[in-house]
Amino acid sequence: MNRLARPLAYEKRMSDYMSERTYLDENEGRSLTSRRGFLTGSAAALAGGALMAVPGAAFAHKTAEPPTDVDMLNFALTLEHLEAVFYTQGLKKFDAKDFSEFFKKNRAYREQGINGTLEGEEVRMEFTILREHEQTHVDTLKSVIRSLGGKPVPECRYNFEKTAFTSVGKFVAVARVLENTGVTAYDGAIGHIENAKLLTAGATIATVEARHAAYLNLINGVQPFPRAFDKAVAPRKICGMVEPFIVSCPEPYGPYKSLADLCGRVPNTVREL
Ligand SMILES: [Fe+2]
Ligand SMILES: [Fe+2]
Repeated sequence: MNRLARPLAYEKRMSDYMSERTYLDENEGRSLTSRRGFLTGSAAALAGGALMAVPGAAFAHKTAEPPTDVDMLNFALTLEHLEAVFYTQGLKKFDAKDFSEFFKKNRAYREQGINGTLEGEEVRMEFTILREHEQTHVDTLKSVIRSLGGKPVPECRYNFEKTAFTSVGKFVAVARVLENTGVTAYDGAIGHIENAKLLTAGATIATVEARHAAYLNLINGVQPFPRAFDKAVAPRKICGMVEPFIVSCPEPYGPYKSLADLCGRVPNTVREL
């Protein structure tokens, strides 16, 4: 059976999902419309300026010294905690029946599937794998941080009940936003890592995040691989983008005074050609 024999009417459906698009999404097209701009970094500067409008992008103080690899890993761990808790709590809230009913009722979603029969229970099973991957990323980052003599940051409290768990549809849409943000976060962070072995480890996580993002794009009716290049976003800007999901974090936050302290240490720039 040809699993993807049915052409997907992306254009029509894109409008249905615009409300779920992040600030980041809105800037993706701009950043890659000019290959020259991409190479010179001017596109990143353009996006960077506009990102200041993101609610909570308040981590503005200057980095006094370059961040350590442990700082960069703790930045990644902050995102992985968020993702792991997101899937864990969301899957507790919505069972197989909830997924099944939602996907039965919503044609636009159903049509993204194999021959137009995307089944909610199958989607939920994929979500349990996403949850396991994110938990594995958390556990791995913690142990790498410890092996470097560092202290891992803890989980925070999140507001997913209000921002993501109002329906299965919202859960699935916000998952797409988080995974796509994760890809740009790893792409933006990786250039600031010094240790070559950590670069390899970071790349192997980044590509898995991209697989998650592609699947979630697909089931949300968005092109799974929309561009030839993903966008790298500066770590401090990513802090501002995920902050709306965070209610509070323990203080001290691992080895830092607070999450804001960590976000102030990580770079506000990306390293690119
Ligand atoms: Fe992850
Ligand atoms: Fe992920």
